[in-house]
Parts: sequence; structure tokens; C-alpha cells
Amino acid sequence: MSIVGGKPLNGTISISGAKNAALPLMIASLLTADRLTLRNVPSLADVTLLARILRNHGVDLTIDGKRGNPAPHLGETFHLTARDIVDTTAPYELVSRMRASFWVLGPLLARCGKARISMPGGCAIGTRPVDLHLLGLKALGAEIDIDGGYVVARAARGLKGARVIFPKVSVGATHTVLMAAALTAGETVIENAAREPEIGDVAECLVKMGATIDGVGSATIRIQGADRLEGAVHTVLPDRIETGTYAFAVAAAGGEVELKGARKSLLETAFGALERTGVAVTETENGVRVARNGGALEPITVETQPYPGFPTDLQAQLMALMTKARGTSVIRETIFENRFMHVQELARLGADIQLQGDTATVRGVDSLRGAQVMATDLRASVSLVIAGLMAEGRTTINRVYHLDRGFERLEQKLAGCGASIERIVSG
Ligand code: EPZ
Repeated sequence: MSIVGGKPLNGTISISGAKNAALPLMIASLLTADRLTLRNVPSLADVTLLARILRNHGVDLTIDGKRGNPAPHLGETFHLTARDIVDTTAPYELVSRMRASFWVLGPLLARCGKARISMPGGCAIGTRPVDLHLLGLKALGAEIDIDGGYVVARAARGLKGARVIFPKVSVGATHTVLMAAALTAGETVIENAAREPEIGDVAECLVKMGATIDGVGSATIRIQGADRLEGAVHTVLPDRIETGTYAFAVAAAGGEVELKGARKSLLETAFGALERTGVAVTETENGVRVARNGGALEPITVETQPYPGFPTDLQAQLMALMTKARGTSVIRETIFENRFMHVQELARLGADIQLQGDTATVRGVDSLRGAQVMATDLRASVSLVIAGLMAEGRTTINRVYHLDRGFERLEQKLAGCGASIERIVSG
């Protein structure tokens, strides 16, 4: 991908459905023999890969308007029907390519009493263990072994509602227990649950499917499971990380953009940080407007935290922005220990960043200069796009396939607001 920096962004960007809600919602289709219809599904490589994995388990998937979606900004509508689960194994070849696919474990176990899932892969951002998922399912009565790189889970006489106390907040482990408990007799209480809006979106869908769920958005979630769940129709909530990413991009490039469909309430901490840098953020009838007209960027101190704290999925984007602040910013990453792969690439563009343990000290420089850089993981790649928009001259980003995992029509959305950005298709 090639970007020529220095052009402000002006106009409108439509925000897509949230990747990190669409993925577990698709997985929830395994919980019922009926049809689950999901609207506003973003067109992303991770969604396509998960569709392949689900088909392998027996899910029948049809997509409305597949040939030439007439309104791409509204996302796609997926119909998923898991009438019969034909295979309870999720193989290494598929799971190793996307961590969220490991989350099929809970629904398969609840529905079929057994599952054999390869240990996951995903973005290279830390060790990312699965002990909390297993702790949760064991509390519901599952027997679990690790065999040849696979998690082998059984619940011969079914799972039973129980109290699950997580020692640490985990989005994925909360999804796993929430989905399994929805199809498990009795009451399950999750303590120290993740409070991310995407958990709330999945819970809302599970309620439509027949589960009773209270406390969503708090640290304690109570689930009354059902013997049988039904089909439902659900619309995926807007992507708050995509929203934040474009907000940081506008802050970086300057200009004024309305993020259509964005919900300000999903991103209060990140917008608060952006306002502290001197950028204007206002709620509009259709979304959120972000504007920076000429003013300098103030440096800030930020620490990533589980929701409602500052999201780790926006840490790289914030760092890119702060490379040109007038002063020194301090950014601490508390969720993933190795999520700093973007630092050395930002340095190629002239950024001044010192890393010590989990903390990055970013000294603002007057200008960045375009260079060749390499995308490493999804959010790190998009931080390079943001830096490229601020840099003088041309920035070329290699390995942009990482971006396709989580950003729908990124070049079109930015180019539509005046960015000089294009994908280089190699021979
Ligand atoms: C989800 O990953 C997101 N993925 C990530 O987004 C996001 O960065 C992360 O939550 C944190 O917000 C999806 O929603 C698909 P965690 P997840 O379990 O669920 C540790 C992106 O770019 N942990 O909340 O895998 C773990 O190592 C992606 O879209 C355990 O110790 O994250 C980490 O330090 C990347 N044991 C912390 O918990 C476990 O069993 C939080 O991880 C599980 C996790």
C-alpha cells in the first residue's frame, strides 16, 4: 500500500459492523438448529475464514446480495443454520490462523457434549494463553485434556450451571462461558466478566435466542440457560475500534470528518484522550464528527485497560498520532506484553520512541518522512497508515493483508475523504 502524506481528510466515513462482535455472533449459530440471521456483517478476511471453519462443523451459510452488494456501507446479511453438527473438531490448519475461532469450543461442547479444538494462533501480540476459557468450562462440569496440541473437552452428561470466577478479565473467556451457559441448564454466574460492548451484543442476541441474561456491561453476568435455543435476527453493532482508528487518522491528517453510524458512547475513554490532545469530537445525528483544524497536538499519558478503559486495540494508532505531538507522551500497554511491533516501524518514519518494559515514551518530532515499512499485526498495520498520512512524501507499507483482517474498504474510505492512498497489486 502506498500513501503520500500531508493531505487533510474531509468528508464522511461510514463505520462498518464490529469485527469483534460479528465473529462471536457467527459462532453463536452453533448453539441452535434454527436459522440465525446477522445483519451488518463486515466484509473482512477474518469473517471469511470463520465462515470456512463454521462450514466445516456443518453450518449452512448464505449471504444476501453476495454478487454486488448494492449498499456496501450497510454490511452483508448472513443466514447461518447449524441443523446438524457434522464435526466437533476444529483443526490446526484453520484455528492457527485466527484466535477467535477457538471460541467454537464453548458452543460445540454445550450442544454436542464434546469438542476437540486446536490451540489457537492469531496476531503476534503476546503469548495469549487459553487457561481462563478452560477454567470456565471446567466450572460448568467439562472434563478437559490437552492432547497433541488440541484441547479435548467432554461433558458426557451435559454441562451444569455454576459460578465462574475469573482471576483476570478476558474478552474471549467471557464469550466462551456466556455462549456455553446460554445452552446449559441452571444458572451460571460469571464474576469478573469482561464488559466490552461486543459481549453485550452477543448477550443481546442470545436473549433473542431464548436465554435469560442479566448484568451485561457489569462485572457480574447472570445467565439462565435454556435446553434449546431458537433462531433470531440480529444487527451487529458498529465497530468502535474502526471508529477510533478513523478518528485518530483525522486527528493525524487534520481536517473534519463525520464518522457515520459511529456511537460515541462506545468509546468515551478514547474520545476523551483525543480531546485532551486538542481535537474536537462532537456527537451528530448520524454519528460522530472529529475535527482538527491547524492546532498543535498536545502530548498525553495513557494506559490501556479492559473496557471501559482505553482499548489496547487503539494503542498503536494513538502512538502513531503522538509521534508528532508537541512534547512527550507516555503510553503503557497493560493487556498484551508484546504489542509494540509498530514501534520499530514508526521509527523508520522518524518517530522518537523509547520502550521500557510495558511503557513507551514518545517524544514528539516536527515531521515524519515517508519510508518503506512492514505491517506486523492488524492494529499495528493501521498505525502505519496513520503515520503515513502525517509523513512527508511516500510511505510504502508491505504485508497489508493484515489490514484486510479487520478493516473493510480502508483505502476507499480514506481516499473518499481526500487521502492519497492506493493498494499496489504485485505481479
Ligand atoms: C479480544 O481478544 C479481541 N479479539 C482482541 O482484539 C483484543 O485486543 C482483546 O480482546 C483485548 O481487548 C476479539 O474480540 C476477536 P483477552 P482476546 O482474552 O479475547 C490474557 C483485534 O485486533 N488471557 O481479553 O483473545 C491474555 O493473554 C484483536 O481485533 C489469559 O491469560 O483477549 C491477555 O493478556 C487482537 N488466559 C488478557 O488476558 C486466557 O485464557 C486479555 O486477553 C485468555 C486471556
